[in-house]
Amino acid sequence: VNDPAITSLRSFGPLIRAAIIGASGGIGRALTENLAARSEVECVLACARSGPAPEHAKVLRETIELEDEASIAEAARVAAVDGKLDLVIVATGVLYDREVAPEKTWRVLDGGALTRSFQINAIGPALVAKHFLPLLGRNRKTAFAALSARVGSITDNQLGGWYAYRASKAALNQLIRTLAIELARRNPKTVCVGLHPGTVDTALSAPFQSGVPEGKLFTPAFAAARLLTVLDDLGPQDSGKLFAWNGKAIPF
Ligand SMILES: NC(=O)c1ccc[n+]([C@@H]2O[C@H](COP(=O)([O-])OP(=O)(O)OC[C@H]3O[C@@H](n4cnc5c(N)ncnc54)[C@H](OP(=O)(O)O)[C@@H]3O)[C@@H](O)[C@H]2O)c1
Repeated sequence: VNDPAITSLRSFGPLIRAAIIGASGGIGRALTENLAARSEVECVLACARSGPAPEHAKVLRETIELEDEASIAEAARVAAVDGKLDLVIVATGVLYDREVAPEKTWRVLDGGALTRSFQINAIGPALVAKHFLPLLGRNRKTAFAALSARVGSITDNQLGGWYAYRASKAALNQLIRTLAIELARRNPKTVCVGLHPGTVDTALSAPFQSGVPEGKLFTPAFAAARLLTVLDDLGPQDSGKLFAWNGKAIPF
């Protein structure tokens, strides 16, 4: 299951210009590497707040700190210099850090941690959309995708827990839906979706991998290849929804 078959991105134009936000993360880096290796991709703007970008002639490194809107605007300004974009993927996110930890009970709910989760998982991607959606070409298929998570689905929530992560991803899903509706009027060929990558072996999931069934912990390279194939298969009629790595829609 971890063998990423790379098929060409047929539904996009022949010279794809892409931007990955969060290119330093496990999945963001794999997306950047996958795109840079493709002959149909002209360039990849790799945006990260820290760390180097993958070394490749097609990759240009820019700095984005999601809590600093000016850095998002500046990266978008740089992206616009050479023309329109075809593909923008927001691969940032937080499940735990020094200030945030997945909550098992409401007793440990913390305003600061909730605020921080919403800041990174929902508000940051919304501000990326604000500055990057105007850069998408209008007369061809283009895509804006943000990595969300199945646990952000309200319908799918049977287990409880993880309040801040679930709620901030649910907010992200609602933002994507709302962006898609507005975008369809301006750019009817654009696909605007949330993506669930499956459980992927990255720093974000590392402390929570023990219960993952055999064969269900994906490599970042596999997840990146799957997500790009899913985006290739989607059309404007799919905009505003959440899709899993296997192409299946997840109800909000
Ligand atoms: N891994 C999984 O199993 C899984 C499952 C479902 C959904 N997802 C989603 O997939 C996405 C990518 O996750 P991952 O597994 O690749 O995690 P990761 O390796 O921890 O990467 C997270 C990325 O987000 C960036 N980031 C965090 N806060 C930021 C900020 N304030 N400004 C700019 N960048 C910031 C990190 O930058 P730094 O490198 O500078 O820290 C890093 O590039 C997330 O949205 C996650 O919720 C992952």
